[in-house]
Amino acid sequence: MNLSAYFRARFQTALSSLTDDPAPYAGMIRVAADPKFGDYQSNACMSLGKKVGKAPREVAAIVVDQLDVAAVCEQPEIAGPGFINLRVRDEFLSQSLFGMLHHERAGVEPADHREKILIDYSSPNVAKPMHVGHIRSTVIGAALANMFRYVGHEVITDNHLGDWGTQFGIIIYGYKHFGDADTVASDPVPELAKLYRLTNELIEYTKAKASLSTLQGKLGEAETFAKTESQAAGAAAETASKAAESESKAAAKESKKASKAAQAAQRRVAAVQSEIESAKAKVDAVEADPKLAAIAAEHPDVPAAVLRETAKMHEGDAENRALWEKFLPHCKDEINRVYDRLGVSFDHTLGESFYHDRLPGVVETLDKLGLTTESDGAVCVFLEGFESPMIIQKRDGAYLYATTDLATLQYRQEVFAPHRILYVVDSRQSEHFEKFFAMAEPLGMNDIDLVHVQFGTVLGKDGRPMKTRSGSLIGLESLLNDAVSRAQQVACNPERLATMDPPMLADEQNQIAETVGIGAIKYADLSHHRTTDYRFDVEKMVALEGNTATYVQYSYARTQSILRRVAAEMSIDDVPAWLVENTTEDQLQFREPAERALALALVRFEEAIDAAIAAYAPNQLCDYLFETAKAYSTFNDACRVLGNTDPVVLRTRLALVVMTGRVIEQGLQILGIGVCERM
Ligand code: ARG
Repeated sequence: MNLSAYFRARFQTALSSLTDDPAPYAGMIRVAADPKFGDYQSNACMSLGKKVGKAPREVAAIVVDQLDVAAVCEQPEIAGPGFINLRVRDEFLSQSLFGMLHHERAGVEPADHREKILIDYSSPNVAKPMHVGHIRSTVIGAALANMFRYVGHEVITDNHLGDWGTQFGIIIYGYKHFGDADTVASDPVPELAKLYRLTNELIEYTKAKASLSTLQGKLGEAETFAKTESQAAGAAAETASKAAESESKAAAKESKKASKAAQAAQRRVAAVQSEIESAKAKVDAVEADPKLAAIAAEHPDVPAAVLRETAKMHEGDAENRALWEKFLPHCKDEINRVYDRLGVSFDHTLGESFYHDRLPGVVETLDKLGLTTESDGAVCVFLEGFESPMIIQKRDGAYLYATTDLATLQYRQEVFAPHRILYVVDSRQSEHFEKFFAMAEPLGMNDIDLVHVQFGTVLGKDGRPMKTRSGSLIGLESLLNDAVSRAQQVACNPERLATMDPPMLADEQNQIAETVGIGAIKYADLSHHRTTDYRFDVEKMVALEGNTATYVQYSYARTQSILRRVAAEMSIDDVPAWLVENTTEDQLQFREPAERALALALVRFEEAIDAAIAAYAPNQLCDYLFETAKAYSTFNDACRVLGNTDPVVLRTRLALVVMTGRVIEQGLQILGIGVCERM
């Protein structure tokens, strides 16, 4: 049972005699911070007291009188200024634990309303190697898909590959000028990556070089402005220091304002300076290398040439289409290797190219609806509440990212008719999605709930974007390999191996390293709230201490090790099956606080999943698993399982061990993370 939801519903009823709008007050239920105050606590009476003009304790007395939670709780208590404390009855916990033992999904009930939910995730731009930024959408999207499926929704996953954009213009240009047909044929993936990197470097170089003179101009302007502002601030400060008492307050305020403006102008100077530095670095990177410099001199206008190659491909130029068809399968092989390693798959992979023929139709539909405006030769849609329009076709006839998203939405409605679509995409695209969603209504698609599930950036250990020394992004595969080899050192070091009986052979060690290493990277990503940036620190990720997959996986391995020992001691093959067959509900009783605390943690599994689903926030499930693993560790230290002669103690403890294992296994599985039978 979802206890929080149960309490909210009960409070809703109890509060309805006091207010017409009980829902927000009913929602003020929290897990109690200290077991002293019970298990859950409501602080609704404080705010409600203010609203109805009564003392909070008085309101609390009325609420408690009306509150019907006897099926789950002891008599509610009023504490302090008007908190209501709830303590779950032990019999309810043992009943629930007993129910979980017999339940396929560890007590998690299916959602009340089954929905069809389409999840658009991963969606990398192929033709360039996958980097660490790609991990977020892939891992968060897969976890969301698993969560929604777990509670019975119909989920359709679609990898909206960027397989039709400028990145193909880049490798086509690269191939035509620097490529080698034999190498592409024999060793395509690294060769295409090399061509992408070289051409892209030339683009960056050309753009950086061209931007330098504009940037110098900007710097001059910014410096002049900063000088004026700083003088004004000086003058304002002087005025303030001399002001008569009656005017001193206003003058001080003016001076503060001027000083803030001067600081802002100074920051602007620093920002332009850093832009110049990064442009110079790009120029230097090429010019310091004579071979590269010679290539750059021979190819003075790569950015425009790449756009032309892309446009030719879109227009159906035979040579470029043939190259696209030749390259695309190799690009897919490359990303599929990463997906295999991550254990991620999709129901559909309908890339941007799939929608190419539908793009003119989008413009036509919008035209017919009278939504388009021509602006500077481009076709635009002006939307209420947005400063800039959404461009759907450029002056040269090219379509844009937004046009494809509109065509995709039409297709998805026709073919899948989902209730909801989740777009698991970087926060930096939030403006695009706001505009795009605003178009759904005039297009007659307001019955689909469109959600941008956005996420922040992965940073290096130093808090800056992760780059190699040469400035390119670090490939995802090398990070995965690094995590796996570190996991091997942590989980299979000689000291640990010496304690293993039977000995752990190389195969099992490698399997553990892979499960722990990949799990560590996924968990680190999922355990941060998705909208925050986080630092990629492999050492911390694979550590056995802290909120890591390794810690949670280790707890699981401990439960299995105990079950193996019990099996040997009692000569039973399958301990969980034996337990289910030989235990009655009244044989589950908590005599130690650690037993009760662990049971309560386990019963909260459904609540954690519901909360993670409601906020599209897998980190809530991570936090839950971490708390449960900690409760298990306390239990493990305090309560012996082996060698118990008392049938109640033995069964209760076994039930806790079995269910801890199952909840962790299923919880991690939802997050896309595996477990190991021993570690
Ligand atoms: N390929 C895009 C990128 O890498 C992400 C696509 C997200 N999905 C979408 N329907 N726009 O930025």
